[in-house]
Amino acid sequence: MKQLEIKHIQKLLKESIGDKTYIHCLGVMDTAIKLASKYNYDTDKAALTGLIHDCGKLKNNEEILKTAQKTGIIQDDIMANNINLLHAPLGAFIAENTYGIKDEEILQAVRYHTTGRTNMTLLDKIIYLSDYIEPNRCFSGVEEIRELAYKDIDKALLIAIEDTIMYVIENKLLLHNDTVNARNHLMINLVKNRR
Ligand SMILES: [Fe+2]
Ligand SMILES: [Fe+2]
Repeated sequence: MKQLEIKHIQKLLKESIGDKTYIHCLGVMDTAIKLASKYNYDTDKAALTGLIHDCGKLKNNEEILKTAQKTGIIQDDIMANNINLLHAPLGAFIAENTYGIKDEEILQAVRYHTTGRTNMTLLDKIIYLSDYIEPNRCFSGVEEIRELAYKDIDKALLIAIEDTIMYVIENKLLLHNDTVNARNHLMINLVKNRR
């Protein structure tokens, strides 16, 4: 199928995720554009990915679980037992099969926007961080990460991932291997670059 027009994607997105998540997506889109222009990445691609990154966040958990089971996107036990993680691979599925997005880089950034992964692409990093620091986010320390994001994307990303790991542990949630891999890979590279 051909990729839907952006107006059509916006309409479907708003209907399926609801107003609150849609507003969050607009915030992620704005931040993704800013980070993309700072780090010389395609701003149109970053904007589209930011807009749709949560397209798998259907209005209730039952619907997410039902659709995830139907589409066969649950690939491991950690995903199967942590509903918070499911909307990301589900989103990649919806982006491809409902919106007709073919760009593998965009689909991967949607797929890994919650867990991160080893060797993240620049688009993965932009979306993960934009999701964390978009203007509607408000938690102690967010301003520091916002500032750092425009100075050193890898350092900002490392803090965001480590905060997420700590949140997951404190709340007794399952920690996905991809998040551990994302953190270790970033640390190895940061140490290498310091030498
Ligand atoms: Fe998300
Ligand atoms: Fe999000």
